[in-house]
Amino acid sequence: MEISAKTRLAGLIGHPVEHSFSPYIHNFLAEKFGVDLKYMALDVAPNRVDVAVKGIGALGLIGSNVTIPHKIAVMKSLDEIDPHAAVIGAVNTIKNNDGKLIGYNTDGAGFVKSVKDEGHEVKGACAMVLGAGGASRAITVALAAAGAHKIIIRNHTLAKAEALAADIQAAFPKVSVTAGSLALTADQLEGVDFLINTTPLGMSTRKNECPIEEDIVPPSGLVACDIVYTPYETRFIKWAERNGLQTVHGIGMLIHQALCSFTIWTGIETSTAYQEVFDLLVQKGVIL
Ligand code: ATR
Repeated sequence: MEISAKTRLAGLIGHPVEHSFSPYIHNFLAEKFGVDLKYMALDVAPNRVDVAVKGIGALGLIGSNVTIPHKIAVMKSLDEIDPHAAVIGAVNTIKNNDGKLIGYNTDGAGFVKSVKDEGHEVKGACAMVLGAGGASRAITVALAAAGAHKIIIRNHTLAKAEALAADIQAAFPKVSVTAGSLALTADQLEGVDFLINTTPLGMSTRKNECPIEEDIVPPSGLVACDIVYTPYETRFIKWAERNGLQTVHGIGMLIHQALCSFTIWTGIETSTAYQEVFDLLVQKGVIL
């Protein structure tokens, strides 16, 4: 679509941003859905975050994504924060609502969407989440919000799992939230519907690592989900497939968080674009 005086701008605020593939996704979505919108990656130095965010309102951007290291820092410059993003304590999407800047977090919602997209029900389910960092926080909040019945957070540093569990429990009193250490035995997987890796174990530089002992034989019926997306087939996913489990690959969360952001800015339901975005990322060499 030709750039004209009516073209709206969206941006990615981060530091650095030059390796991001969000511009591929959002410019593709704008073309596909006929939205007069261009998306640019904007490198913002840490001491400029406040003015950059205020600039979204001043310059009339439709909104922005926010990535590392600014997901927490942007929050104090916003007019309103979505309640789930507030519990997560991080924002990855900003919408400019006629000058009023609202912060959202689509990471966890994107994860839940990727699970549902594979035909699984989160409502009433028991989820065990490995890791207690930022990604785990976004995912556990989204799982609780989607009606998970029980959430077990397991982490190398037990105190971090306990602190996260306490926060989620306080925000969602009806959900049973517990914490434990990362070391797992097969019997601890009994009754678990989703086993979710949010640690970096398995990603490109650590591709020979797995967040659980690979000789564990899991109960059938367990769904193994990874949020690591490079490589596409992580050691954890391979372990799951060897044991006949259903899997949810990390790329699903990555694509769905972007689809959710685009919906927040434009109101357009974007789920139908999933496969085309997947194919685009294969073509761009993101999915290996
Ligand atoms: P992110 O924002 O991607 O979630 P993070 O906040 O740095 O990243 O969290 C990384 C998570 O992976 C943490 O739960 C971390 O465990 P600790 O809290 O004990 O540090 C976990 N992690 C990182 N490296 C790990 C390793 N080698 N073994 C086990 N867990 C690891």
